[in-house]
Amino acid sequence: MIVCNMNFHIITLFPEMFEGVFERSLIKRAREKGIININLIQLRDFAIDRHGTVDDKPYGGGVGMLLIAKPIFDAVRSVYPSAGNPSEKSTNKRVILLSPRGEKLSQEKVKKLSKLSEIILICGRYEGVDDRVHSLCDEEISIGDYVLSGGEIPAMVLVDSVSRLIKGVLIKEEALKTESFTNGVIEFPQYTRPENFEGMKVPEILLSGDHKKIEDWKKEQARKLTKDKRPDLL
Ligand SMILES: C[S@@+](CC[C@H](N)C(=O)[O-])C[C@H]1O[C@@H](n2cnc3c(N)ncnc32)[C@H](O)[C@@H]1O
Repeated sequence: MIVCNMNFHIITLFPEMFEGVFERSLIKRAREKGIININLIQLRDFAIDRHGTVDDKPYGGGVGMLLIAKPIFDAVRSVYPSAGNPSEKSTNKRVILLSPRGEKLSQEKVKKLSKLSEIILICGRYEGVDDRVHSLCDEEISIGDYVLSGGEIPAMVLVDSVSRLIKGVLIKEEALKTESFTNGVIEFPQYTRPENFEGMKVPEILLSGDHKKIEDWKKEQARKLTKDKRPDLL
């Protein structure tokens, strides 16, 4: 029997943005098998009036609009009624606001998130969210030091990177053992056919059939490549 290992709830004004990404390849298969569940929540369903209002001008002036706190609180509480209540904090559920000021997403963080059973993601838009939304969140996560137009792409990045660590999602889970950032290094170089492409040959050792030597070569190449491309990891 397959058990659902992760429930993602994504609160967004643009649920249709997720269709292409979550209806292909690994994520599609994991959803079909019931290993992960993705629940897209339209923030406008929690608007403050019948005109569908979810944003307003910032106090003190400023350019642009902010997402109002109440629709976000109501949307989060529709799936997690005790959210924001410290005395009823769940250890396996997490409310996360995607935000440029959050902790930068890393493979280590992705691994920790993959151990949870429920993740509620809030996608900001426009100038962001009313600051009181932070009281509802367990944490804020950024995907890098640049500003995107909304939290949807960061949410896709988080769901994809977390999902592939969940048991049953990858067909060949041993691939995770040597993947970049897993052992503090980036992955070794890899080649496929042909053996000679425009004069560039596949390293002979990979054609030797000597598994011990090939494993040693891969480790050595991973170290070398890391030193060259990402010395900050060493
Ligand atoms: C245009 S941004 C708001 C930027 C905000 N005014 C600022 O200067 O920090 C709108 C929304 O996109 C999302 N966002 C933008 N950049 C992001 C990043 N690097 N990581 C995660 N979320 C991001 C957040 O949800 C944010 O509320």
